[in-house]
Amino acid sequence: MIALVTYRSRYGHSRRYAQWLAESLSAQCVDLDESPPASFDGVDVAVVIAPIYAGSLLDLDAFMKPAIAAPATKLIGVTVCGGNPESADTKKILDGATAAATPTELSNRMRWFHLRGGIDYPNLHFADRTIMKFANQRIKQQARGGDADAAEQVAGIGKHLDHSNPDALAPVIAYARS
Ligand SMILES: Cc1cc2nc3c(=O)[nH]c(=O)nc-3n(C[C@H](O)[C@H](O)[C@H](O)COP(=O)(O)O)c2cc1C
Repeated sequence: MIALVTYRSRYGHSRRYAQWLAESLSAQCVDLDESPPASFDGVDVAVVIAPIYAGSLLDLDAFMKPAIAAPATKLIGVTVCGGNPESADTKKILDGATAAATPTELSNRMRWFHLRGGIDYPNLHFADRTIMKFANQRIKQQARGGDADAAEQVAGIGKHLDHSNPDALAPVIAYARS
């Protein structure tokens, strides 16, 4: 099986997942911002791993265009987010983000998985730090209302809160090999 793992990442969480996955699948690992693939010719399984920012995935045109042109390639998408992908709130965001990122031609071909990354507060760019200041007001409110996930996120403000875990890739690896 020839696999190709592609990714976009601002602070490294999605890149690390991509590197772990590529190692497991003996695949090439490609940064879509640096070397977008021209085609998926000869690729059995193509994976894209990308983070969620403000409710949306980073733009994935560089993956979707060759995917549309490669009907025989199995397609896998992996989102990486700060919240717990099992929580109802985050699930709703992830469903919306993947639906918006998947071209209609691929809606029956693309299988999505959701993983938890982290937030690297000390290294956030100015714009992201400003957005998080506002987002955290809501998260603090949820924590005061008894939301345990939100409380954990509040405790991580200012630190590098990192949930990245190579074991979380097991279902992705199993599906890629199936
Ligand atoms: C400005 C900003 C907005 C974010 N928005 C969301 C969001 O809407 N939902 C979510 O679950 N995580 C959100 N996150 C968390 C990122 O998805 C998380 O940090 C992810 O691991 C980043 O991956 P990367 O390091 O590969 O870019 C946000 C993070 C930042 C800094």
